[in-house]
Amino acid sequence: MKIKILPTDQIYKEVADVFSNLITSKEYPILGLATGSTPVGVYNELIKRYQEGKLSFKNVTSFNLDEYVGLDGNHDQSYRYFMNHHLFNHVDIDKNKTFVPLGIGDIKDNAKKYDLMIDAAGGIDLQILGIGSDGHIAFNEPGTPFDALTHEAELTEMTIKDNARFFESIGDVPTRAITMGLASIMKARKIVLIALGKNKVDAITRLLNGEVSLDLPVSVLNTHQDVTIYLDKETFGYLEK
Ligand code: F6R
Repeated sequence: MKIKILPTDQIYKEVADVFSNLITSKEYPILGLATGSTPVGVYNELIKRYQEGKLSFKNVTSFNLDEYVGLDGNHDQSYRYFMNHHLFNHVDIDKNKTFVPLGIGDIKDNAKKYDLMIDAAGGIDLQILGIGSDGHIAFNEPGTPFDALTHEAELTEMTIKDNARFFESIGDVPTRAITMGLASIMKARKIVLIALGKNKVDAITRLLNGEVSLDLPVSVLNTHQDVTIYLDKETFGYLEK
């Protein structure tokens, strides 16, 4: 596991470089994308590069990590809406090749098909991840088995509280999600995780201590071959000393 401690702006640029390198070097790149506040700066940087004519998403396929159960893609709090708004509407990606798990209909069936679709596309080349303050990645909350594929999950109270900032009131936050499982994520050939801010210190400290336990979902990454963790210098600078 590689660790990079950098100012936030530089993290966005470096991670955008990792994406750009893949997109320009592979004919049909497969991206694994995340929502939440963490990756937005990376998406802005990618949009800028597209607008400057340095990058094209024409041949890109993308798979997002998760979606709230009960929200369809037109709902302004759905992750499909988020992705359109923060990235897809601003670049030349073919929206038919952008996949977000479906949070409506038969969730079990949607979940089963999602892993099959990822595999059929050739698997994810590069997965970007944020991390929840309880150590979740995607919506794999503490206790999720490491061998879980895409499934329906219940959000913890901590996650509901963390995500309430995006909603009018905490009662509006969906309590269930469809999420890629830890095993689905681990299949990605390369993983980049970004952690920004003090509420991530606890989970990151445990991760860097080498913990591998169901209690800390992100810790499954300690067993992956190619993970780079980007930590903001303002919060994690003390680790350099
Ligand atoms: C989002 C996702 C979540 C977030 C995590 C951190 O697709 O999978 O695991 O990455 O909840 O959220 P932010 O970035 O808002 O702190």
